[in-house]
Amino acid sequence: LLGTYGDDCDIPIYVVGGFVRDLFLGIENFDIDLVVEGNGMEFAKYVAKQLDVKVVEHEKFLTASLFFKDGFRIDVATARTEYYDKPAELPKVDISTIKKDLYRRDFTINAMAIKLNSKEFGMLYDFFGSRKDLEEGIIRVLHKLSFVEDPTRMVRAVRFEQRFDFRIEDETLEILKETLEGGYLERVTGQRIRQELEKILQEKDPVKGIKRLSELNILNRIFPKTYFTVLMEKKLKNMFLVFKRLKNIYSKNNIFYAVLRIFLEFYDVETLKSVMQRYGLPKKFVEELKKMEKRIIPVIEMIKMRIKFSDIYKILGKPVFETAAHILAYLDDEDSKNYFFEYLERVFTVKLNLSGNVLKEKFKIKSSPEIGKIMGEIFCMKLDNPYINEMEKLKEILGGRNG
Ligand code: CTP
Repeated sequence: LLGTYGDDCDIPIYVVGGFVRDLFLGIENFDIDLVVEGNGMEFAKYVAKQLDVKVVEHEKFLTASLFFKDGFRIDVATARTEYYDKPAELPKVDISTIKKDLYRRDFTINAMAIKLNSKEFGMLYDFFGSRKDLEEGIIRVLHKLSFVEDPTRMVRAVRFEQRFDFRIEDETLEILKETLEGGYLERVTGQRIRQELEKILQEKDPVKGIKRLSELNILNRIFPKTYFTVLMEKKLKNMFLVFKRLKNIYSKNNIFYAVLRIFLEFYDVETLKSVMQRYGLPKKFVEELKKMEKRIIPVIEMIKMRIKFSDIYKILGKPVFETAAHILAYLDDEDSKNYFFEYLERVFTVKLNLSGNVLKEKFKIKSSPEIGKIMGEIFCMKLDNPYINEMEKLKEILGGRNG
């Protein structure tokens, strides 16, 4: 259908990149990237009108996105040659042909196109030996300056290598190392690096990816003084095992922050400051990290000893997502994990029926801190036993005080 729209507008249109790669690998991929030899934006608007779908244009990049009602999305780009004013900056765009468009891409495996116009429908455009590399499982850049032009590709190389169990080709690896040593990764904004890192964290085996980033000294460039050790590997693995379960409890969850807690475990003030600035970490994240640094280990000991919830609560309170994940990173045995999950369930579900007003009006307690303290006591009791009778406990507490 898209091809016939191309025919209507009399412009060549191709599906490119990850979709074509995955097609040959037999992997499902719902991200469709189209490239148009002409004006991509105009074409997108034409398609949007025909199909009555929403279109969002990005004038600067000559691209547009089509949003279908069922969440399906198609990105349309203008065949382009990007040129870079300065290395590591966002590219400038010029209209060009499909071959040039493919040449500017990251790796050969991502640089194939399939034509969609009816005349040549299904024709594969493979100028750079992409299929061969795909068959042999090789990650290869298209030209020597690929990593200089976009240093985040170093992280991408690792992601594809690990995802498909491929191998970074020797010369590409050499270029990668040279570019890395040239300090190019440091020239990219933290935001862009973070985006690529987050993609690694979404892979099936993220710890393998992190390990490889460390092996290639990329991790160290991203987070100075972070060393991937056997212990770190174990903690990360524990963490990734429980994320799904944790997400059922926390609507606000950020895996990047959780992993950072492990990376920054032995931080020094300077490193923390620079990482904070570079990756735009919120103040809250840093405050929580500092607050918890001396408490994590004691809390873990308490969990292992099955100390009662009310006592854990006095130290831990209601932990945020990354703190809960940090604790779970240290727990290997299922029973301890379950005990901690039970704790989390409790602290987030136990609610008092009793209100401060009752204490004020019925029991004539005037001071707010006093009311808060009593309510806190009863809350703790309820953490240990959700079935207590709150009123009875209240009378006990008040009786104890008066007596
Ligand atoms: N691309 C590139 N350089 C980058 C990012 C992207 O050349 N730094 C190109 C690649 O050709 C890639 C396409 O843009 O195939 C789309 O990028 P993206 O959606 O990030 O990756 P996919 O290849 O689709 O991978 P994934 O399966 O992870 O979505």
